[in-house]
Amino acid sequence: MAKAKKSYICNQCGNVTNKWAGKCEACGEWNCIEEDLTTTQAVPKGLSTGTKGRKIELAPLGDFEATNYKRAISGISEFDRTCGGGLVPGSATLIGGEPGIGKSTLLLQTVCALSERNMRCVYISGEEAMDQVRMRAARLGLEKAPVELASATNVRDILTSLEPSSGSKPVDILIIDSIQTMYIDNIDSAPGTVTQVRTSAQEIIRHAKARNMAVIFVGHVTKDGQIAGPRVLEHMVDTVLHFEGDRSHQFRILRAVKNRFGPTDEIGVFEMAGEGLREVLNPSEIFLSQRNQNVAGSAVLAALEGSRPMLVEVQALVAPSTLAAPRRSVLGWDPNRLAMIVAVLETRTGLQISGCDIFLNIAGGIRINEPAADLAVAAALISALQNAPLPAETVFFGELGLAGEVRQIAQSDLRLKEAQKLGFREAVIPKTKNKGKARKSTNNEIRVSEIDNIQMLADMYSTASNVQAYG
Ligand code: TYD
Ligand code: MG
Repeated sequence: MAKAKKSYICNQCGNVTNKWAGKCEACGEWNCIEEDLTTTQAVPKGLSTGTKGRKIELAPLGDFEATNYKRAISGISEFDRTCGGGLVPGSATLIGGEPGIGKSTLLLQTVCALSERNMRCVYISGEEAMDQVRMRAARLGLEKAPVELASATNVRDILTSLEPSSGSKPVDILIIDSIQTMYIDNIDSAPGTVTQVRTSAQEIIRHAKARNMAVIFVGHVTKDGQIAGPRVLEHMVDTVLHFEGDRSHQFRILRAVKNRFGPTDEIGVFEMAGEGLREVLNPSEIFLSQRNQNVAGSAVLAALEGSRPMLVEVQALVAPSTLAAPRRSVLGWDPNRLAMIVAVLETRTGLQISGCDIFLNIAGGIRINEPAADLAVAAALISALQNAPLPAETVFFGELGLAGEVRQIAQSDLRLKEAQKLGFREAVIPKTKNKGKARKSTNNEIRVSEIDNIQMLADMYSTASNVQAYG
């Protein structure tokens, strides 16, 4: 039998090498390389000794019993939707987010809601003592919910305690808060290291899948927002959710970044209040509630997050710069995209903007990722540069190309409908190819100005008299 080769793994980035070193070549961290015990301990016996494997049963694709697949619905619709319509039995979900953003609060509220719906829920906290969790539950007014609680970190103890005993109902939902605190006692590296995290998760997932139990892991994130520990953790689970937001703002967004059982890019919006997380069923109204309509540099974007239209305010401030390299500061959007739009505006419309300091902010502390924001950003920049407010009841969306062309984007009708619902009366959007047909489906109450290049936008809002006529 060939000698099992040792391998080493970086406990920061998960890079695997075949020799030990003081510094990881991949991430540059010091003192983080350790022996990868999972590979040496689990030598596959059957392969090396030449014995035959056990025969597995092959089954047809269509043999599917939908009844086994009934999703667990919590009734917290923002959560259920983000998971693709509830938790699938036997699935593993990972929820990541910065410390203090509200992961434990969200999960406690969710399991309490699930347990009220006659599901057996177990909440294992590795970070807080039982009384701390109880205190939080009392604060949230959930102390009566039939959730079973434990403060534990040893994976084998936890799994043994979850074994179904005669007469008791099997566990439906298991929460592990957090996976970085869990450890398996026959691996001698500290909790939170790559080996421990990976093996613990593997064990728990295997146990959960065999018993049709849905498990949710809380995962810590690193400085740059990645889920800490090995990337494999994200591969191992079925669903990865990010809980994001600015701790100084009350809004929190739950975003699906991977989902084997539903669409990704779905989001749930919450508000952190004194009595826990509250669902925000109409985010547009709240994001726009503090908008000052008569200020230059403010444009309303009709964005789409997953299947959900959302109106947000894009704010720009353009000021003369004394610096050789003017400042660009962006919150809630991609800085590279801003650089591109500034360049397109300057070269295609002749507006002198690149020598100015530019600050851009998506109000409310949320993050927009889609290119449809380009047109709203351009409009906010034009308005800020000329110090003239845009007409108050107008929304913008559309993608900008390098040639200054305005490109079509998905789901304009959905966005227009949302804008109309909130009382907007004009929309500046990309030109549609099959004219008439697309527009007919929306109501005529909203006036649509279709543009196909950035010059048209600049012309619409460039002269002061024009702006006054609108305002
Ligand atoms: P927590 O769920 O402990 O965060 P995480 O598990 O992601 O680290 O949330 C803690 C924060 O939430 C804390 O700063 C206080 C705030 N909070 C409220 O504002 N209201 C509440 O009702 C609760 C329970 C927490
Ligand atoms: Mg926590």
